[in-house]
Amino acid sequence: MKIRPRINRWTSARRNLINGSSIQSSLVQPHFVVEGDMVNEPILTMPGINRQSVDVLVKTIEKDMEMGITSHMLFPVLKQSDKDPIASKASNLSMPLQKAVKQLKRKFGDEIVVMTDVCLCTATDHGHCGLINESEVVNDLSIPELCRIALSHAECGADYISASDMMDGRVNAIRESLESEGYVNTGIMSYSVKYASAFYGPFRDAADSAPAFNDRSSYQMDTRSDYSEAILEAITDEKEGADIIMVKPAMIYLDVVREVSNSVMRPVAVYNVSGEYSMVLASKPSVEERKKMVCEILHAFKRAGADVIVSYHTREVINNKWLN
Ligand code: PBG
Repeated sequence: MKIRPRINRWTSARRNLINGSSIQSSLVQPHFVVEGDMVNEPILTMPGINRQSVDVLVKTIEKDMEMGITSHMLFPVLKQSDKDPIASKASNLSMPLQKAVKQLKRKFGDEIVVMTDVCLCTATDHGHCGLINESEVVNDLSIPELCRIALSHAECGADYISASDMMDGRVNAIRESLESEGYVNTGIMSYSVKYASAFYGPFRDAADSAPAFNDRSSYQMDTRSDYSEAILEAITDEKEGADIIMVKPAMIYLDVVREVSNSVMRPVAVYNVSGEYSMVLASKPSVEERKKMVCEILHAFKRAGADVIVSYHTREVINNKWLN
C-alpha cells in the first residue's frame, strides 16, 4: 500500500480508493458539467457518457454512490460566451463545476472522493492549456491562473485537485497556494506523464476544448519519447508534492505505467482516455464481449501497477457487477 503521509485526514473513501485492494475500489468515474437546468446531453463520440447540468449530475452521482461508485472526477464544459484568452471564468465560484463540488461534498461529505480537473483549455477561447503570448503557450504566465482555479476548487471542498495542464512547476506552485490558504488536506493528483496523444479526440468534442491553432506538443510529452522523460516527470511531480502520479493515456502506455510504478513511492493512476473508450465500442461488441474486453483491460492496468483507474467504463462495470 502506498500512502503519502502529508494528508492528515484519511477518510475511508480516500483510503479505499488508493489502497489497491480491488479493481472495483480503484475506479473513478469522469463527468462533464455544463450550465443550465435539466441538461442531460449525450456526447456523440462517447456513447453512454453525457454532459449534465448540476441538478442532473448530482442525481446521477447519487445513483452511482448507491451502486458503490465513490470516486468521481469532474470536468467543466463552458459555453463559448464564457470563454476568454485568460480563462477568467475557470476560477469563478459560481460556475457549474464549483457549484457541483459544493453540493456533492455537502451531500456526501467523507463518503465521496471528488476530483476536479484543473486546466485552462476548457475556459480559454483559443483552447490551449496555458496562457498565450504571440501564439505560444507561456509556462510561467499560466501558473498563477492554475493556482487560482485550484484554490476555487479547494474552497468548494474538492478532495483532489487534478492538474492536467502539463506546465512545469505547477504542482509545487499549487501545493504552496493550497498550504498558504489552509487547504492542507486537499490532495493533488497530477497528470505527470501525459503524452500529446491522438486519443483525446472524443474528450475534446465533449469538453469543446480542441486548440484553435497549433497543437499541444509544446507542453504535452512526445509520444515517441523513451522512459527517461516519463520517469523524470513522475519523480519531479512527486518531489513537488503530488499525492497521486498519473500516466495518460493508459492502454497503449502500459509499459510506461510499469516503469513509473517502479520509480515512485506514491500511488499511480492511469487515465483510460476517451479515444480508448470509443475504440472498445467501435467494434459494436455484444454485452458479453464488451464485458470481457473491459475486464481484460482493467486487469491489465492493475498488472502494470495502477493503483487508481480513471475510466469511462466505471459505471457499466460496477452497475452490472462485471468484476464479481
Ligand atoms: C485537459 C484534458 C484532456 C483530457 C483530460 N484533461 C484533453 C487534452 O489534454 O487535450 C483528455 C481525457 C480523455 O481523452 O478522456 N487538458
